[in-house]
Amino acid sequence: MKTPYYTATSLDGFIATEDDSLDWLFPLGDLGESSYPAFISEVGALAMGSATYEWMVRNADRVTAETGSAWPYQQPAWIFSNRELPRIDGADIRFARGDVRLVHAEMCAAADGKNLWIVGGGDLAGQFHDAGLLDELIVQIGSVTLGNGKPLFPRRVLSPRLSLVSVHQVGAGMAELRYKVQKDGEDAPP
Ligand SMILES: NC(=O)c1ccc[n+]([C@@H]2O[C@H](COP(=O)([O-])OP(=O)(O)OC[C@H]3O[C@@H](n4cnc5c(N)ncnc54)[C@H](OP(=O)(O)O)[C@@H]3O)[C@@H](O)[C@H]2O)c1
Repeated sequence: MKTPYYTATSLDGFIATEDDSLDWLFPLGDLGESSYPAFISEVGALAMGSATYEWMVRNADRVTAETGSAWPYQQPAWIFSNRELPRIDGADIRFARGDVRLVHAEMCAAADGKNLWIVGGGDLAGQFHDAGLLDELIVQIGSVTLGNGKPLFPRRVLSPRLSLVSVHQVGAGMAELRYKVQKDGEDAPP
């Protein structure tokens, strides 16, 4: 059971524009031709912040057109917010706030041995990293720059904490980098 942060980013390190648009992302490649189908098949629970969830709520028509459902996940999902948020019909979601370690334990119990996907945003993934709970960063880097926006991972993580495991080209629009996060007490990579 691993806890990966799996996301797409612009070349200059933003996962969305300042106004939470992902319009730059969709022309870059076909999800079905990426690692996503294999990745999601190994996910048993997922977590996201309120801005990511609210994007899904706002774009329900678009998500339905692309996936057949306003909420494309079968897995239980934890939505972090300090506010009351609307529910999406048929979605297996629970709202959470505060310490990510408590939610991580709940996710582990629900995931039946499968992986725990930290969907984003970057600071939420950073909170899991701060708690020593993040195992992998899997990042699809799009062939675009945004200039500013929502940061990929607003933390300072210096070598050798991240070790590059693989590099895959996905057409002309994306490159996928996979990093293992070295935990306290683990040997540094050779
Ligand atoms: N490129 C991609 O593949 C990709 C992947 C994921 C997301 N995105 C996009 O990137 C943007 C991410 O936005 P974002 O960086 O603002 O992040 P976000 O994590 O989606 O939302 C941040 C909000 O999450 C809540 N939150 C986070 N940690 C919390 C905690 N411990 N306890 C309680 N609430 C907590 C707070 O919500 P409240 O303000 O409600 O209290 C916070 O303002 C969205 O537009 C999303 O659609 C893109």
